[in-house]
Amino acid sequence: MSSEILRLENIEKYYSGSVDKLHIIRNLNLSVEEGEFISILGRSGSGKSTLLNVIGLLDKIDGGKIFIDGKEVDVLSDLEKDRLKNKMLGFVFQFHYLLPEFTALENVMLPALIDDFSNKSEIEKRAMELLKSVGLEERVHHKPSQLSGGEKQRVAIARALINSPKILLADEPTGNLDEETSETIFNILRDINKNRKQTIIVVTHSKDLAQISDKKLYLKKGVLETEE
Ligand SMILES: Nc1ncnc2c1ncn2[C@@H]1O[C@H](COP(=O)(O)OP(=O)(O)OP(=O)(O)O)[C@@H](O)[C@H]1O
Ligand SMILES: [Mg+2]
Repeated sequence: MSSEILRLENIEKYYSGSVDKLHIIRNLNLSVEEGEFISILGRSGSGKSTLLNVIGLLDKIDGGKIFIDGKEVDVLSDLEKDRLKNKMLGFVFQFHYLLPEFTALENVMLPALIDDFSNKSEIEKRAMELLKSVGLEERVHHKPSQLSGGEKQRVAIARALINSPKILLADEPTGNLDEETSETIFNILRDINKNRKQTIIVVTHSKDLAQISDKKLYLKKGVLETEE
C-alpha cells in the first residue's frame, strides 16, 4: 500500500528583485508517495533550488501549505520544525559541505551525534554501514582533502542518510562531477531508492539521472509539469 509522504498545496514564493517582486513559485502543487524517486528538471533560474529549499524547510513560503508525513508544517513551532527537519529530511547539495577537520566517518556520524551523544558506538556502526553502501569502506578515515570529488559526494550522501530521513533531497548532486563519476552517484541513488525504499527528490540538469527516476517533473513558470 502506498502512502503520501509529502504534499505541497498552492505554494507561493517570492523574492524581492531590484525593481519588482520576483514570483518564483506560483500556486504549485505536488504529491509524493513514500518510496518514490522524483527528479526535477528546469532551466537555470527557474526556481528548482528554491523549491527544494522550501520542501527542506530551509526557506519560508509566502503562501500555501506543506505537509510532511501528514503533518502540516506551518502550524509547528520553530523547535518542532527543527525536529521534523532532523528526523524527516536529508540533504545533499552540489557542493558537499563536509567539515574539513573531520574524517569521512566522523562527518557521517555528526548529524546523529548532535541528536544523541550517548549512543556513539551504535552511531559509528551505522555510519560504517552507510559508507560501505556507498562503496567507501576503504576511505573511512580519510579527511575530505584526501578524497576525490565523487568520493566526497558519496560521503555527503551517507551523511544525509545517517538519521534515516523519510525524504532524501539532493540539489544537483552530480553538478561538479565528470560523466563516469556521475553515473556512480546515479547508481548509488537508485540502489538506495530500491533497497531501502528511500523517497528521493533530486534536482538535476542531467537527463541520464532523470531517466532512472520514477517520475520526471519540469519546473516551468513557477509550476511543475510532467512534459518537457
Ligand atoms: N535569496 C534570493 N533573493 C533574491 N532572489 C533570489 C534568491 N535566491 C534565488 N533568487 C532568484 O530566484 C530565481 C530562482 O533561483 P533558483 O536558485 O531557485 O534557480 P535554479 O532553478 O535552482 O537555477 P540553477 O539551475 O541555476 O541552479 C533566480 O532568478 C534567482 O535569481
Ligand atoms: Mg539551483
